[in-house]
Amino acid sequence: MKPWALVALTAGIVSAGLAICGSNAPPPQKADMQKAEQWNLVVSGSTDGYLSPCGCTSPMTGGIRRRATAIGGIEAKGKVVFIDTGGLAAVPGVQGQYKVETMAQSLAKMGAAAVALTAEDLRLGPNATQAEIGLAAGRIVSTTLSGAQKNGVGSGAFEGVVASIERGPFLIGATTDTRSLSSGAGISDVAAARLLVSLAEDRGKLPVLMLDAGHDDAVRIARTVPNLVAVVYRQSGWPPDRLERVGSVALLTPGERGKAIIQLTFGGTAITGYRSIRLGPEFKDDPSVSRYFKGYLSRVDAAHLLEQQPRQSAAGFTGSEECGKCHGAAEEVWRHSGHFHAYDTLEKQGQARDPDCVSCHVVGLDREDGFRSRELTPGLSSVGCESCHGAGAAHAASPKTAHFKEVTDATCISCHRAEQSPGFDFQTYLKKIAHK
Ligand code: HEC
Ligand code: HEC
Ligand code: HEC
Ligand code: HEC
Repeated sequence: MKPWALVALTAGIVSAGLAICGSNAPPPQKADMQKAEQWNLVVSGSTDGYLSPCGCTSPMTGGIRRRATAIGGIEAKGKVVFIDTGGLAAVPGVQGQYKVETMAQSLAKMGAAAVALTAEDLRLGPNATQAEIGLAAGRIVSTTLSGAQKNGVGSGAFEGVVASIERGPFLIGATTDTRSLSSGAGISDVAAARLLVSLAEDRGKLPVLMLDAGHDDAVRIARTVPNLVAVVYRQSGWPPDRLERVGSVALLTPGERGKAIIQLTFGGTAITGYRSIRLGPEFKDDPSVSRYFKGYLSRVDAAHLLEQQPRQSAAGFTGSEECGKCHGAAEEVWRHSGHFHAYDTLEKQGQARDPDCVSCHVVGLDREDGFRSRELTPGLSSVGCESCHGAGAAHAASPKTAHFKEVTDATCISCHRAEQSPGFDFQTYLKKIAHK
């Protein structure tokens, strides 16, 4: 029997008042029989370290503060089981560690039932894994790593990682891509999927598997283990607008960088709704998660991570004021452009000391004599003349002999990348900043 057929019996019909063998029970009302219990499976994930909204172009989307608000909104209207595909931070190091800790705390605060442990999470190292398991206690799941263990609880480095998590009508499992781990760790993804289905059948639950892999693997798993109710996969781009199914298995992805969440609604055992929700500015910041986020930024600041960015030899910067002394008209145009306010923009976001952000919003963060702080290097905060023209101390000292190279689209694209400036077009943008 398919597991959801079993659940139909237990959750749908029995709870609606139809006693299977009790002939004394009153006959069920037709309306009651049809009224299956409603649940929402909410899926977030692949945050990849993007704790704040990203895109740099309005509307900026995503971020954990909005995510908490969006989930709270769904919870206010119905029952929710919220799961996260993992991939909390992409880059190892101190900031990655802080991100993992902040994410684990925030996911626990948001009431996440399960958080997948992915290869990306493991790449951040044992300290990050330990912090994640500790701060999101009881929520970190890997059927791959813990499925073969007695009681489904991992041992050694994975102590506390569980093989599956039961919440509402669902039994949630997850695979971990172990190709980068020492050989012999864990079971295959198909074995993990089969194990989850058999556990779910025993308990009369709907098996939901978070896959540490992309769409092709999700299709393969759905075909091989068709008794799964949903397979969640990880993929870049936006999640699809419509629900995709392989047989009766729903395929879901929250897309990239925590920019969207998925809401899958169940009426009893049947899927009755699917929504992909982009986390735009209409979702206000959740106060509790905002506190965690602020705490994270304070730690980044206090650890002087910006000061520790690698720098190449001095380039010979002089600062925008110096250029203005001889190029008053150009300076005037620049002062009225967005570039002049680029560092203010980060200050307003509270991210003026965040190495994730500063490089494109100042001059020469990667050079010895480049931006340090607004106080130490006032002429180099925000996008200045030398962001585009290059270091100009030599030219300022001897304008007739030291010349600049022509500014081309390549200069702009070093900051106006597809991710931060998706609408960038050289000619259109050039017109907006033209100064001669
Ligand atoms: C050092 C990084 C950097 C470089 C190089 C750069 N930009 Fe920008 N640009 C930014 C940032 C950051 C903003 C957003 C500023 C804000 O709103 O805070 C921006 C905003 C803009 C805007 C919108 C604001 C406005 O004033 O209309 C235009 C247009 C623009 N850039 C054009 C260009 C062009 C054209 C080039 C190349 C010739 C270029 N930029 C090179 C970082 C850069
Ligand atoms: C790779 C370079 C780059 C990085 C890194 C970067 N930005 Fe930007 N940012 C830009 C550019 C370029 C623009 C202007 C985009 C445009 O107008 O097309 C911009 C614009 C913005 C804007 C103005 C958006 C609007 O409403 O118009 C904000 C806010 C912003 N960035 C914040 C951030 C924050 C916060 C971070 C770090 C999490 C960050 N940026 C990291 C390049 C960058
Ligand atoms: C966003 C990039 C950018 C910024 C910032 C910028 N410029 Fe320019 N500038 C250009 C581009 C592009 C041109 C036209 C192409 C060229 O001459 O290389 C130009 C042209 C010029 C010219 C004319 C060159 C000529 O051949 O006639 C001067 C002078 C100049 N800029 C000075 C400045 C000064 C001074 C500042 C700061 C106050 C500044 N620019 C800031 C991109 C920039
Ligand atoms: C002492 C005055 C002075 C200062 C300071 C100065 N310039 Fe110039 N700049 C000139 C003169 C004069 C020319 C014309 C040179 C020529 O025609 O040979 C010039 C030419 C330029 C050009 C045209 C291309 C070239 O290389 O000749 C650009 C771009 C430019 N300046 C940008 C800047 C920037 C950016 C700064 C600041 C880093 C700056 N200038 C500082 C006087 C100055």
